[in-house]
Amino acid sequence: MALTTTTHSDPPLNDDSLCSLPQQNQEDCSSSSLQETPFSMGSPGKYLSGVSRVEMAWAHWTKLGRPKFIVAPMVDNSELPFRMLCRKYGAEAAYTPMLHSRIFSENPKYRSEEFTTCNEDRPLFVQFCANDPDTLLEAARRVESYCDYVDINLGCPQRIARRGYYGAFLMDNLPLVKSLVEKLASNLNVPVSCKIRVFPKLEDTLKYAKMLEDAGCSLLAVHGRTRDEKDGKKFRADWNAIKAVKNELRIPVLANGNVRHMDDVQNCLEETGADGVLSAETLLENPALFAGFRTADWVSDNENGYVDGKLDQADLVVEYLKLCEKYPVPWRMIRSHVHKLLGDWFRLQPQVREDLNAQSRLTFEFLYGLVDRLRELGVRVPLHQKDTSAARDSAEVSRIEL
Ligand SMILES: Cc1cc2nc3c(=O)[nH]c(=O)nc-3n(C[C@H](O)[C@H](O)[C@H](O)COP(=O)(O)O)c2cc1C
Repeated sequence: MALTTTTHSDPPLNDDSLCSLPQQNQEDCSSSSLQETPFSMGSPGKYLSGVSRVEMAWAHWTKLGRPKFIVAPMVDNSELPFRMLCRKYGAEAAYTPMLHSRIFSENPKYRSEEFTTCNEDRPLFVQFCANDPDTLLEAARRVESYCDYVDINLGCPQRIARRGYYGAFLMDNLPLVKSLVEKLASNLNVPVSCKIRVFPKLEDTLKYAKMLEDAGCSLLAVHGRTRDEKDGKKFRADWNAIKAVKNELRIPVLANGNVRHMDDVQNCLEETGADGVLSAETLLENPALFAGFRTADWVSDNENGYVDGKLDQADLVVEYLKLCEKYPVPWRMIRSHVHKLLGDWFRLQPQVREDLNAQSRLTFEFLYGLVDRLRELGVRVPLHQKDTSAARDSAEVSRIEL
């Protein structure tokens, strides 16, 4: 694996067409980045019949071990150290954050800062947003040897995606979507996957999914909310729609939405028949979800059988920070994770959060010190696990130092 180490500061991205949440302060850091490798345009097209494409899609998925527990793409949040933390705690595959195909093609600084990986970071989906097939292909060629799928973001519902004309706004232009998928499917050496939202009408969703499969998509992740259902806490994902897509298609289908703990994972797999699940928001609070840990919110008072899992979010922050020392990323990402991981802890000691907010330049020393301070103040919010001896053993195994 070709990796280089470069020192950099966060990019002054003026392009407003990124699918991004409000940015944290930006500070200097150093980062492991993808080595610039020459790439040749014009690899042989793969004009296979529908049947053999489906067979190849399954052969590829099987070769990857048919991962079921998957880290969803998250701008500024599913970066390398976070993916590695989730993988340690049971995630079997992961998506990068969405990368902007045009900026990725044009800007070496963006490439080296926003996409980093390592040998153990597999299976990996690298996700792009795009509205131009040639630009998408150019970006995809740069990453294809470092990943298992190049994924097209067809689900971003934010205003910024409307302005940039990508993500879920391409649902209004299916011929363009088709051309994006066809371009990659006939020119790349790795399979193409897509992540979509559902249409309000099931029949539209099914036609859409079928069109993607016919265009050469080898794996489809379905977020069971519509473009207008932006708030994941307010709108439940429609698992019935996901089930209908799974029944309609022949390629592997992944389900996304309403996965907050392992019971949800099992229910979702059973109810939808999907080949795997993606989780996003819950992992930010609890990266150990796929190892069977859950936050107190999901352990009701009358539910016996859940015990202190001997792992908590401060432990996970420390593990995450160590991974960030090993695999540097922009500080805005680190800051965001610390806020999300320690949210419950900060509610008990709000002045510690204020001190973090007041710190415009972060250091690892400051962040490790912050965790120590919370512990000294007596804060502890455990993650819970099912009380079986197996669970207790796995808690011990999980706590082995990185
Ligand atoms: C912080 C954050 C960033 C996200 N960024 C992306 C992204 O880059 N690409 C994408 O396809 N979806 C993105 N999403 C959507 C998630 O991948 C996922 O589809 C959505 O949150 C629903 O899953 P959940 O119910 O498990 O949160 C993002 C979600 C969050 C919370």
